[in-house]
Amino acid sequence: MADDIIAVKPEIAATARIDAAKRAAMVAAEAQDANAFWRGEMGRIAWMKEPTKIKAVDFTGDVSIKWFADGELNASVSCLDRHLAKRGDQVAIIWEGDDPNSDAKVTYRELHARVCKLANAMRRLGVKKGDRVCIYLPMIVEAAVAMLACARVGAIHSIVFGGFSPDSLASRIQDSECSLLITADEGRRGGRKVPLKANADEALLTCPSIRNVIVAKNTGGAVEMMKGRDHWWDAITEGEGTTCEPEKMNAEDPLFILYTSGSTGKPKGVLHTTGGYMVWASFTHENVFDYRDGEIYWCTADVGWVTGHTYIVYGPLANGATTLMFEGVPSWPDNSRFWQVCEKHKVNIFYTAPTAIRALMRDGEAPVKKWDRSTLRILGSVGEPINPEAWLWYYRVVGDERCPIVDTWWQTETGGILISPLPGAVAQKPGSATLPLPGVKPALVDNEGNILEGATEGNLVILDSWPGQMRTIYGDHARFGQTYFSTFKGMYFTGDGARRDADGYYWITGRVDDVINVAGHRMGTAEVESALVAHPAVAEAAVVGMPHDIKGQGIYAYVTLKAGVEPTEPLRKELVAWVRKEIGPIATPDAIQWAPGLPKTRSGKIMRRILRKIAANETEGLGDTSTLADPGVVQELIDNKVG
Ligand code: WTA
Repeated sequence: MADDIIAVKPEIAATARIDAAKRAAMVAAEAQDANAFWRGEMGRIAWMKEPTKIKAVDFTGDVSIKWFADGELNASVSCLDRHLAKRGDQVAIIWEGDDPNSDAKVTYRELHARVCKLANAMRRLGVKKGDRVCIYLPMIVEAAVAMLACARVGAIHSIVFGGFSPDSLASRIQDSECSLLITADEGRRGGRKVPLKANADEALLTCPSIRNVIVAKNTGGAVEMMKGRDHWWDAITEGEGTTCEPEKMNAEDPLFILYTSGSTGKPKGVLHTTGGYMVWASFTHENVFDYRDGEIYWCTADVGWVTGHTYIVYGPLANGATTLMFEGVPSWPDNSRFWQVCEKHKVNIFYTAPTAIRALMRDGEAPVKKWDRSTLRILGSVGEPINPEAWLWYYRVVGDERCPIVDTWWQTETGGILISPLPGAVAQKPGSATLPLPGVKPALVDNEGNILEGATEGNLVILDSWPGQMRTIYGDHARFGQTYFSTFKGMYFTGDGARRDADGYYWITGRVDDVINVAGHRMGTAEVESALVAHPAVAEAAVVGMPHDIKGQGIYAYVTLKAGVEPTEPLRKELVAWVRKEIGPIATPDAIQWAPGLPKTRSGKIMRRILRKIAANETEGLGDTSTLADPGVVQELIDNKVG
């Protein structure tokens, strides 16, 4: 089944923005003259000063990536001002609440006014170009307003997902020394409240850089307000004007920082700049989703992740789309919620994660079929590999075999989609992200960095730059080069492994580093380990991913307790709760195994390869364990495997 090919239907190719011939022409044009090709695409966003320089990239040495480097613009103008004449009264954002009875529509004109009011208030608080502003908000319209207001005044936003703990929030604020925090009293998810302001108060005990906090009133729940520091959103924006001079930004001035997990150390601040990112967001949103004027587009991600940045806010708004923002979860009030929203708002394009599809699949077709999905035209998938079974269910049941599926492979670092079918141009294979977009040059390399040809499997690298590529790690350019360009010299290393078939299609096999992907959320095993060892009972911990039916991967932790500490069930529960508190609920360990010892090399390095296999129940081919300091621990771990 995995080798099924679903050809592009002629009626789809006939009306799509890009058919196979056009795609081929784009690929050829870009290959022949990248500067000319991207000069041709840059007009999709609004410039205050048109760039004359296009691409200036060096993946070697100190690594320098610049696009449109002498251009000037403001991202909020591309998303708002320039649409006012033609589509001021068009709905920009449809907001659908966690409670199915609450929703709202915001036109481009209203959104522009709200952004300007907040931007004016921010300026009054002293926020200037280049300052860092942390956003810790639920999925409410204010999140998009806050992002665009930052862009308006030239401040760099750093969004922290509302599910992260006070500690996680604090370390992100500290790393980029944010001076303003924008949050809400509480968030709502699946009928429950999330105490955002209370979390923020706890985080701010260790964040001296924060001078002001703006608090949106969302649930009306009681919160403490610190005099002089905390301001209600409504009060602080009340007297402000509905226009605001946009800051003139260089194309290479930062637009945002987004923290993401790597294989080692603390999350790193992925930095994106303005011009190239905006061109890429617009280019990919329009072409991958074949977006057409007037369509309702819904990406179910949270703005706390990169998917929300590029495909809820910047891409759709740059393209003058109507973007749907959903506060809730797929399973509440019941498991038909997604499809109910599709019917209610007549959604044309729907973009979600495989984990949601797998969870909904368990409940069968009835919850899907009871709602009208006839407006759906394109379906998308993102965040993790989609197994062919889930792909086919999505295709048959949700899309009634009518809607192409775009399985979009990309990363926080890439700014936008790199590998994906174009719905009118590329035949789909369930489970494959298919082919690179025009201008993207993936390759597979062996562990020595030799480029592999033809049908093969290897480490996924990208050989040359694209406009939406991250530019640096905030505050640590050396780590940027080290992390992404030193494993394979002169190539961007994605951290993913992939297979390429005889048709040149890419099949992402998952991370090859110590990053795991839990329900589409990216996590460093090192972060979970350091949370565990911070507990007074724990001597040592090793965390690996394990296969999980719904989440793709679950978190499997091997824990060695300190001498004299008894391994008990209450302690196991306490450790699970501890990790949730330290990092956030998304890091909840699925299994904790008490490990009297961990398999280590004689030089003391933990052999994670072995731990991964034990967690996956693949104990047949454990490979060579002769280099272990104490080979006996392996059998002990196998015998006491959890689950
Ligand atoms: C994985 C999310 C297979 C991959 C946009 C990547 C995928 C990581 C896909 C980035 C896909 C994302 N097929 N794997 N379509 N999309 N991934 O930074 O391992 O949260 O490296 O960005 O998710 O996760 P991130």
